[in-house]
Amino acid sequence: MGFATNAIHVGQEADSATGAIIVPIYQTSTFVQEELGKHKGYEYARTSNPTRTALERNLAALEGALFCFAFASGMAATNCLMSLLKSGDHVVAGRNLYGGSFRLFERVLSDFGLTFTYANTCRLEEVEQAIRPNTRMLFIETPTNPVMEITDIAATGYLAHSHGLWLAVDNTFMSPYFQRPLALGADFVVHSTTKYLNGHSDGVGGAIMANDGASAERLRFLQNAAGAILGPFDSWLVLRGVKTLALRMEEHNRNGMAVAKFLHRHPRISMVHYPGLPSHPQHELARRQMTGFGGMISFETGSLENARTVLKSVRLCSLAESLGGVETLISHPASMTHASVPPQHRNLLGITDGLVRISVGIEEVEDIIADLDQALERI
Ligand SMILES: Cc1ncc(COP(=O)(O)O)c(C=O)c1O
Repeated sequence: MGFATNAIHVGQEADSATGAIIVPIYQTSTFVQEELGKHKGYEYARTSNPTRTALERNLAALEGALFCFAFASGMAATNCLMSLLKSGDHVVAGRNLYGGSFRLFERVLSDFGLTFTYANTCRLEEVEQAIRPNTRMLFIETPTNPVMEITDIAATGYLAHSHGLWLAVDNTFMSPYFQRPLALGADFVVHSTTKYLNGHSDGVGGAIMANDGASAERLRFLQNAAGAILGPFDSWLVLRGVKTLALRMEEHNRNGMAVAKFLHRHPRISMVHYPGLPSHPQHELARRQMTGFGGMISFETGSLENARTVLKSVRLCSLAESLGGVETLISHPASMTHASVPPQHRNLLGITDGLVRISVGIEEVEDIIADLDQALERI
């Protein structure tokens, strides 16, 4: 079936007990057994819960995966994925990862004997040079946040496998609607479902998708053993959100393109980072591996003062962290999402003090543009 059909139906058959068309929120911690060892497939809700199972089956279908595991947050998902590794293992990760992933690697997992090297994953030779005898995994995000650099997933997967490594891709920015890393050769996908999959800014969650049975068995064990599961109500919110994922992503993409073009033409904006613009240095690669460009844009206002003025002057766009919701959010990476990155490193990544990031929502695009226009008039 097609993507939109799967989003509405997979894992969501009518409830066998009542016929309810919507998967119920099974708000229960345990399940009664008829006799010793005889039950309906559920024993204890950390191990599995029917609402979470429905979501996991649904998200697996959308990513083209055999297995999916849902977690309490995107970070819990990444942490569980990294628990596949052992003390002494090494990971090559993108140099411009989400700050929370970087913090997990450097300030938590490094205490448990994992080591990380950060490379510009847009340059395959840099990734290859970073590989060591004890490397087990490549971990990338594409596009990166906030400067929207693209990594060639198929080429990176080929490189990973030729060295006997796993490739994991954080697919939060594109969602499976626009990018399916497993089909391009990745071994694992991780998501912060908090963003586009939920889509309504009303829940925090995460997921891992995989195709390999042995890794999936280990992930299932780890999900239960460490226990950072997604609860039934939050699972239900994501299930409800993904029903409209196809519609929303089309609209984020349409609005994103219109806002990017407006910013690109604007005399006060010196640079726009959006993979859908032909001026993006990796536009051709983006067209090849993504089926749309999404709603994430960053743009250069020239100075901290200008960025501050824009962020203070917007009325419709909300100044907030996070992304991927129906409402337009605007933020200042240097002082918000990337504040913990040293200024020198930020500059290397192109995260200047004048850079503003926008998660374009699905309001009327004329209203978003009018709001940005009046704010940019003030700089
Ligand atoms: C690309 C990316 N990955 C992972 C995460 C972490 O997800 P969560 O906030 O749900 O833990 C985020 C959060 O902003 C993100 O942007």
